[in-house]
Parts: sequence; structure tokens; C-alpha cells
Amino acid sequence: MKRNTRLIHNKAGSPGRRTVNPPIERASTVILPDRKALYSRKPGYGRMGLSVQRELEVALCELEGASDAHLTPSGLSACAVAVASVVKAGDKVLISDSIYGPSRRFCERRLARMGVGCERFDPRKIQALEARLSDDVAAIFLESPGSLTFEISDTPAIVAMAKARDIRTIMDNTWSAGVFCQPLSMGVDLSVQALTKYVVGHADAFGGAITVKDKAIAKEVAELTDDWGISLGPEEAYAALRGTRTLITRLKQHETSALQIATWLDQQETVSQVIHPALPSHPDHALWSRDFSGSSGLFAFLVEAETDAEIDAFIDGLELFKLGFSWGGYESLIIPCDEQLTRLPEDWTQSRTGRLMRVHVGLEDADDLIEDLHRGFDALDRKKILDL
Ligand SMILES: Cc1ncc(COP(=O)(O)O)c(C=O)c1O
Repeated sequence: MKRNTRLIHNKAGSPGRRTVNPPIERASTVILPDRKALYSRKPGYGRMGLSVQRELEVALCELEGASDAHLTPSGLSACAVAVASVVKAGDKVLISDSIYGPSRRFCERRLARMGVGCERFDPRKIQALEARLSDDVAAIFLESPGSLTFEISDTPAIVAMAKARDIRTIMDNTWSAGVFCQPLSMGVDLSVQALTKYVVGHADAFGGAITVKDKAIAKEVAELTDDWGISLGPEEAYAALRGTRTLITRLKQHETSALQIATWLDQQETVSQVIHPALPSHPDHALWSRDFSGSSGLFAFLVEAETDAEIDAFIDGLELFKLGFSWGGYESLIIPCDEQLTRLPEDWTQSRTGRLMRVHVGLEDADDLIEDLHRGFDALDRKKILDL
């Protein structure tokens, strides 16, 4: 046997040993033992996922109380696949006005080209939503709490009105990471997560998941991921699987620190409002208390700053909070959000005072983070005095 052949076929076996974690199988081709297995054994091709992806699906089913999990390359693709798998040309989708911006863009731009209509509704006006449930509505897309503005939807009430009309409900459950909210147990048909955030938890990989507990819906999603060739690579799946092992422990720390910081922010003169569903001052606090068992590290506040230069001074004064998109990692992040708010005209954004800032509280010590915010507010105050 020549060396290049030996290089290809020489494989060290390790009988009787098993690693704690599954091996990352980097594979398109899967070698199968015989002709029958070639056409019957699943998964028989790497695109369908191998050991790591299967273990991740099991972990996500456990987390969300699901029977089936479908993996996608990003959170956005999970949202898009979830909607696309339950609609056809001629249908309409109703989306909450505070879903993640790119999910909304998919529904408004891409679905239109597929012959599917889309309309937004105010997440706090569910009677108005009910009035719009015409025969062509095939799905309602919720995200609770909503992106940037953190409205909690009355999910059980929306599910009840949807079920009565055979309308599918989808919920982006990324904020709770499946730890603090279980949409499927509230009757939601498809629960979606950007694994990129808390599940991966270290800001170093993308991933998405759709979990369901109805076999007919699972089939619809599987057909769509098969048809579009959507899957999650083994490295990313591994990062997400590893994240599931520490997810609940990390989330409890995010929760505690975020509550401490939100409560502190609430007492600051320069802060006109803290928008955190676990605070009694939040307009949907009662719904949150009923439907969630805890809160994560992401919330918003309104800071009394009039100019971009003042916001810049605040951000420049921070050392620990970094400026960057995404969230769910171990590092604390902050972003000004007015630039990306595109909401219904009658929305609260018209009547509030201050600039909207979104905070992700990471795993640093909460006292250190409060000191950091102090630095930011001091810098903001100095800038205001200079501008007088
Ligand atoms: C609520 C929510 N859903 C979905 C996504 C999309 O996730 P990804 O960045 O993995 O596409 C994001 C990203 O920020 C998000 O905040």
C-alpha cells in the first residue's frame, strides 16, 4: 500500500473509550457499510447534521419542552424558516410591531415576493389584533419581550384567538433563552431562538433553532429546511451544545446582576425610565409575572440627553460596557437604539422623554458595572455643563 493511500486509510481506533462531549464530525460524506444503509440510514449525509447536532436538538427539546428541534445557521434564519414553513402564496402574516428588525424585514420584503402579505400590530392592543384576524391570516409572529422596547405580549390570549381560527403562532423566545419562558406550554406552535445569544453565550458563533411539539408542524419545518438546504455546521452546533450545559447557571447570574443594575438606574436623576419587565413599574409587569419564571440580562432605559454629542460623552465615559451589536455573551454591552426604531406612529416612542439605550448585562461583577455607569453619567453631566 502506497503512503498516500495509507495516509487516507490509517485511522487510530479507541475501543472502550468515550469522551464527555460528542466528537465534532466535520463531514459532508458519511461512509456507510452497505448499499441498503446508503439509502436508508439517517443521517446519511453531513448536511442533515451528525452527533453534535443530534445532541444539541435533544438539549433544546429538553429546554423548550418540545418534541422536535430544527437547527439553522443563525437566529434570523430560524425566524425566517419558522414563518416561511407555515405560509403559502395568498396568505397573510401578522407581526408584532416590536419583533427584531431583520425578522420584520423578512416578513415585509421577502414574503411579499412570495405572494404572502404582512401587517404589523401593536403588541399591547390585542383587541385590535383580534379584529384583524381575517380568513387569509395564516400566522401571527410574536416576540416577547419585544426587541428594544420590551413589551410583553398576552401570549395565552393571542394563542386562544389564533387557535379558534386555525392560525399558527410563532414566538421569538431568544430573550428568555428557553430558561424563563416556555412558549410551547402556552400553546404557541413554533418557538424560535437565536442560539447566537444566550445559548452560545460567548459571542463567538451563530446559530438558530425552531422547536415544536406538534408532529405535523415539525414535518412542515423539516420539509422547508430540506428544500432550502438549511442546516447548522458542526463547529457552531458544538459551541451551542456546550453553552446549553451552563445556560441556566449563567442566566441566573445575568438575571441577578441586571436586576441590581436596573434598580440602581431607576434611582438616577439622568434616567427618565427603566424598561425592564421584572420591575413593577413596567407596564406589562403583571403579564411577565404570570408567563415568565425569571428575567435575563437585556433591558433598556431612557437617558436624559439631548444631543448625539451628549450620548457620545456618556458612552466614551464607560470602560466595561462595550459598544456593539448582539447580546447574550459574558461581556456587558450597550447601544443607543433610536437609530433603529421604526415603529407604528401611535407608539409610545412619540411620548417618551430621553434617548433609548439598550443594555446587556454580562457576567462581570455588578458593583463594577454600576461604577462604570457612574463614570458614564459623570461624563454626560460634564458635557451638559460644558454645553451650557
Ligand atoms: C430577538 C432576536 N431574534 C433574532 C435575532 C437574530 O439572531 P442572529 O444574529 O443569530 O441572526 C436577534 C439578533 O440580535 C435578536 O435580538
